[in-house]
Amino acid sequence: MSPKAWTGRFAQELADIALRFSASVDVDKRLAPQDIRGSIAHVDMLEKQGIVTPEEGQAIRQGLGEIRTEIDAGTFEWSADREDVHMNIEAALRQRIGDAGGKLHTARSRNDQVATDLRMWTRDALDQTTAQIDGLLSAIATRAGETVDVLLPGYTHLQRAQPVRLAHHLLAWAEMLERDRGRMVDARGRLNECPLGSAALASTTFPIDRAMTATQLGFDRPARNSLDAVGDRDFLVETVAALANCAVHLSRISEELVLWSSQEFAFVEMSDAFSTGSSIMPQKKNPDMVELIRGKTGRVIGDLVNLLVTLKGLPLAYNRDLQEDKFPVFDAFDTVQDSLDVLSGVIRTLGFRSDAMHAALGAGFLDATELADWLAERGLPFRDAHHVVGRLVRRCTDEGKTLQELTLDELRAEHELFDDSAFATLDPNAAVERRDIVGGPAKNRVQHATAELRKRLLDRGVEVDRSAEVDRGAEE
Ligand code: ARG
Repeated sequence: MSPKAWTGRFAQELADIALRFSASVDVDKRLAPQDIRGSIAHVDMLEKQGIVTPEEGQAIRQGLGEIRTEIDAGTFEWSADREDVHMNIEAALRQRIGDAGGKLHTARSRNDQVATDLRMWTRDALDQTTAQIDGLLSAIATRAGETVDVLLPGYTHLQRAQPVRLAHHLLAWAEMLERDRGRMVDARGRLNECPLGSAALASTTFPIDRAMTATQLGFDRPARNSLDAVGDRDFLVETVAALANCAVHLSRISEELVLWSSQEFAFVEMSDAFSTGSSIMPQKKNPDMVELIRGKTGRVIGDLVNLLVTLKGLPLAYNRDLQEDKFPVFDAFDTVQDSLDVLSGVIRTLGFRSDAMHAALGAGFLDATELADWLAERGLPFRDAHHVVGRLVRRCTDEGKTLQELTLDELRAEHELFDDSAFATLDPNAAVERRDIVGGPAKNRVQHATAELRKRLLDRGVEVDRSAEVDRGAEE
């Protein structure tokens, strides 16, 4: 048999360069498990509808099963002459079982076949990625539980701003990741329609049962429109957009860890297992893994742009440009999945230097807002209070002092409302505890938020470390 399925129409073989240029099997062979599963569902349906005989159906299933075994074992011989994963498998089937193999493609086109395979592949990959996000969330929940008493500066504009709990900061990362997870779950819900039966573009004259194949392949329903179903790839756009968003979050977290592991911050010590040294400077310990997560984010953003540009000029229905859709999707998943696992490892093994975090609270006037609030609580308009404290900060800066080192007389020189109780407000722990409000960093709020995160994870069947569990549960 010729490797080509359409040789009836052609007098000449494809030019070598055209063959090489158009072959995609090196990339799309990753779809083999989905392709075989899809073909088995298709042949089961053809048999039930009387389009192939039970003997033919049985031979096709048997042949596909053997091919699957060979592919899994790595002994299957892929050939670029056979263009893509679909033609490789079909040709191998015909070699194995003869003419009956040619009946598998009845009432089907590679156009609906590849669209179906890709939806199944993306669905599985999304499920795996959301599980990996849950793994990272579980690591964050553990570390938040352990560090609830640790305070550090919160920053705006990368300037020390107000004290917060480390656990509050870690839980902010968890919020970003929860949203990424939600976007992936949304994309999965929308993509779960089955193109099979759309055939090349205009469906088919054979009396097929589209609901049967859709159900057998785990789809919610057959796609409603055959022209749309073979040409639609926006399920990939929203999937890769969710991955790009996630990659950007992983990159931002990584950037913070790069900063925190510098000697300038020294808030964390990265485990040796996730650090590298320098070939020339013996003292160096570099945070390469998180730098690479940050660096690889560019690829994922590029993958999204790649997909959008591929799609923007395409008329209905299938166009060969669509063959270029797989590389960016595979690359985006590979990159984000590895990044998630690496970051989970980094966070699980990170050493937090609470002494350095605490020391950083001492400089930078993180207590200035407290003093302004103290005046405002006693009736001074906040804008005026802000001005008074601003003058005190200027004075401290000139004299090389902290607000705590000022005397009551010095405070009263700026405003007569001040009394001794103003000093108590300057304690960072008290400042954090006063923010006892939904979404705030007070201890009981952070404990509650940690317990809620654990509960969400447990509800999803994720393993969570309960050793640092606190009394105030989310159940309360
Ligand atoms: N390799 C092609 C792809 O991935 C399969 C569909 C080809 N269809 C066609 N009419 N040439 O898009």
